[in-house]
Amino acid sequence: MDDDLTQLLANNRAWAAAMTANDPEFFQRLVNRQRPAYLWIGCSDSRVPSSQLVGLLPGDMFVHRNVANVVVHSDLNCLSVLHYAVVVLKVRHIIVCGHYGCSGVHAALSNTSIGLVDNWLRHVQDVRNKHAAIIDACPSEAAQLHALCALNVIEQVVNVCQTTMVQRAWMQGQMFAVHGLIYDIADGLLEDLSLQVTSSDAIADQYERAVAQVAATLP
Ligand code: CO
Repeated sequence: MDDDLTQLLANNRAWAAAMTANDPEFFQRLVNRQRPAYLWIGCSDSRVPSSQLVGLLPGDMFVHRNVANVVVHSDLNCLSVLHYAVVVLKVRHIIVCGHYGCSGVHAALSNTSIGLVDNWLRHVQDVRNKHAAIIDACPSEAAQLHALCALNVIEQVVNVCQTTMVQRAWMQGQMFAVHGLIYDIADGLLEDLSLQVTSSDAIADQYERAVAQVAATLP
């Protein structure tokens, strides 16, 4: 392994040069302001590169990532990102994106102790316990992980919808949708979990439909 960042810095110079060659004004346009239409809340996993896998460029997507893409009502970090995205940037889409084979979800499912992060993953264990009937009906541990990865996204979508800023913005007539997606590391494809919430009234129906779909399509 290299002991410095020479390669990364060289990569960066080549990338910036290629971007500028393709569009001489590209970086200059971004200097003044950002106007992303999307907020992405995803897992920190290095195999799930948010902007890259949806073909977006710098300036297109505001991003928050943490272990297992968890949205916790008291997490000031995530709430601050959400607040800025909704109130200041006025994004049109909030995407919670999980991924199959998530190590964090696997640790939560199997009660594997890693250390400090165990406390964080308690939130995913709450999801597992809430949906014990679906998890217990899975024919294998792989199927359980598959289902819990999807159910975790669904629960976090609801958590986003229930934050004060999202509730207030919808009440004030601001238009944006909260979506649940899941990414498959094995083929690079996103799957829509059939969750697209655009108002407080829609949360319960969308939630129940999405959970039922997971239960009906166990691998
Ligand atoms: Co993950």
